[in-house]
Amino acid sequence: MSAEAIGIGMIGMGTVGGGVAELLVKEAATYGKRVGKAVELRKILVLDVAEVPEKDQAILPNGVLTDDGEAFWNAEGIDVLIEVCGGTGVAYTFVKKALEAGKHVVTANKALLAKHGIELFGLARANGVSIGFEASCGGGIPCITAMQFGLMANQISGMYGILNGTCNYILTEMTQKGKTYSDALAEAQELGYAEADPTLDVTGGDTAHKLAIMASLAFGVQVTDDQVAHHGIDGLDLKDVQFAAELGYDIKLLGIAEQKEMGGGVSVSVQPCFVHVDEIIASVSGPMNAVSIVGHAVGHTMYYGAGAGRFPTASAVVSDVMNIASGWYGDAFAKMNIWTDKHEPVKLVSKEDQRSRFYLRFDALDVPGVIAKVTTYLGEKDISISAVMQHESDEGEFTPIVVTTHDARQGDLDAAIKQIEALSEIDGNVVQIRIADIPK
Ligand code: NAP
Ligand code: HSE
Repeated sequence: MSAEAIGIGMIGMGTVGGGVAELLVKEAATYGKRVGKAVELRKILVLDVAEVPEKDQAILPNGVLTDDGEAFWNAEGIDVLIEVCGGTGVAYTFVKKALEAGKHVVTANKALLAKHGIELFGLARANGVSIGFEASCGGGIPCITAMQFGLMANQISGMYGILNGTCNYILTEMTQKGKTYSDALAEAQELGYAEADPTLDVTGGDTAHKLAIMASLAFGVQVTDDQVAHHGIDGLDLKDVQFAAELGYDIKLLGIAEQKEMGGGVSVSVQPCFVHVDEIIASVSGPMNAVSIVGHAVGHTMYYGAGAGRFPTASAVVSDVMNIASGWYGDAFAKMNIWTDKHEPVKLVSKEDQRSRFYLRFDALDVPGVIAKVTTYLGEKDISISAVMQHESDEGEFTPIVVTTHDARQGDLDAAIKQIEALSEIDGNVVQIRIADIPK
């Protein structure tokens, strides 16, 4: 890296890359002043130049954009590689190649880091460079920086986040504007929030990637994507959204990571959750993200902002580039033990031993004694009921019954549900949704 300028190469010029390029070109003078050297976007590699919108091409100096891989990798003066092409295939190869060539990497790619982060952070360290990844979690919210540096004095006990803009957008549009799931998803794609494969968003996979990255940093352990159990919003039934509202809750897709005792087991999961309307996180709507992080010294802290989209995400990417350009981030990376390659593998709390309150819904024949049988099965498994709700119905008809529980062990709940589902008066499966109680 020269003392006068830092040279940047970027792979990908889609939603995020387009925003990054625009910021780097239009704000070059300001950024240069802030970091004390010129910040120069020198080369961008795409699959096909003709695919890049003309308005994005128009802001670039001649010769910056190329679809010639050889020309890109042979270009002189590239100190930092920005990877915004996505996925875990070529992106993995590109990032490794850059690190091995002694270039810092900035990436928005949570799928890549949740899968290969341990190896890539180690590789960066071995080559005397760093990886910036603020944009990988929470879009434009500087939640990684807050947690890694701002909360360093804390033992983190929990993290509760709306970490997927697409899902939060879909849930908001469905509940507040009555749109269908497929219309809301199509809009999220049009607005550039969704992944290239939106299945990753709606099944909770993208949130699981982000939670793996954030839980690793929060608890100082190694968590990988395959260790985070996830359920998405794709299986949600509108009936449960309506019952949630009746009971005073909203439904949000939450990533939850907890470590109740320092050095103890860590639980990580992603699922739609009931969140009481009085919780601040319940009011987070549209593509906005929010994450609550609870530390033993600081208590409950919360970070809020745009979780996806062109400029919010570019904001995080470019800020990483500037932190690297100024030199402090690379220094911190070399000297501190707060990245995953320096951590021990996580000790996970098994799914059965995780605890929460729950919402249950099942269709039951409206005949004498059915609720008594259900509550007996729950009671036998030490599950205490908080509320029971049934609308008026015709005797002898199947009708939905809703139960909310006090704090219960997942394994006990699953065993009771198995017994309930076997009752002749119960039709189909019991729906269970976690009720998230975020520490105050
Ligand atoms: P995108 O709009 O699909 O853009 C991807 C870009 O990468 C396109 O320009 C694509 O070119 C290019 N590309 C793909 N494969 C390539 C290859 N082999 N060589 C060179 N270029 C290649 O994706 P995006 O939404 O910007 O997302 C990029 C990354 O940021 C992903 O990791 C995503 O998870 C992450 N992210 C996105 C957001 C968001 O709001 N969109 C927010 C946070 C993080 P073609 O168009 O020619 O295929
Ligand atoms: N697809 C992701 C989302 C992009 O909707 O949140 C931001 O990571």
